[in-house]
Amino acid sequence: QPIVLRCPDADAASRKVADLITEAITAKPAIVLGLATGATPIQTYEHLVAGFRNGRVDFRHATSFNLDEYIGLEAKHPQSYRYYMQQHLFDHVNFSPMRTYVPDGCADDPVAHASAYDQEIGRVGGIDLQLLGIGRNGHIGFNEPGSPAASRTRVVDLAEVTIKNNARYFDSPDQVPKKAITMGIGTIFEAKQIVMLATGASKAKVIRQSLLDPPTESVPASLLQLHSSVTFVLDEAAASEL
Ligand code: GLP
Repeated sequence: QPIVLRCPDADAASRKVADLITEAITAKPAIVLGLATGATPIQTYEHLVAGFRNGRVDFRHATSFNLDEYIGLEAKHPQSYRYYMQQHLFDHVNFSPMRTYVPDGCADDPVAHASAYDQEIGRVGGIDLQLLGIGRNGHIGFNEPGSPAASRTRVVDLAEVTIKNNARYFDSPDQVPKKAITMGIGTIFEAKQIVMLATGASKAKVIRQSLLDPPTESVPASLLQLHSSVTFVLDEAAASEL
């Protein structure tokens, strides 16, 4: 049964998630974090950077694995998730650069790279705390509707609606990558603790489906109901249909 924390607004929700991450790192400095991109976690990363600057959190011994990356975008492409992570977090805190993993969207063999990425997560002992956002169609990472519950890190096709949603970040819709590498739902499920952050009215319907409808692969986030340690951190707008 997921825990649901309702916060008055997006800033309070972001602060709450930053606090949960800070507590987890304090309890286990050599933590393995699973990190997410998208518009939603930007403020959380701002709070973590502020916490680092005032000495409340230290990433020196931490490792991170990002959920996903577009296929075909290099690290220096402004829309790549590697670029996002450097800009919003890694360049401003003290992670060891050797321990911030993001799938390589330009790997020669993306299929082999994806399974090596999955194995690397296992090699370091698995993810302690996985941060997630949610797509309007219920996707987590880039596990689109229909993704198998047991899926592993792999190459996926993006849903049409995801390509459309992300088109605003690119000069034209045909520049949006059509494929990505994403951690699988099974991979995400192996995290010891999962924190889902969702804010804004555009997420209200899918949050209701994810928490109140029976778990189904057609709404990947609804499968989180079956995990033993999940916290949904929501602002009032995202929680408005609960
Ligand atoms: C993206 C990412 C997801 C993210 C989601 C929501 O496509 N792959 O990891 O959670 O879509 O993004 P946003 O926070 O911008 O709504």
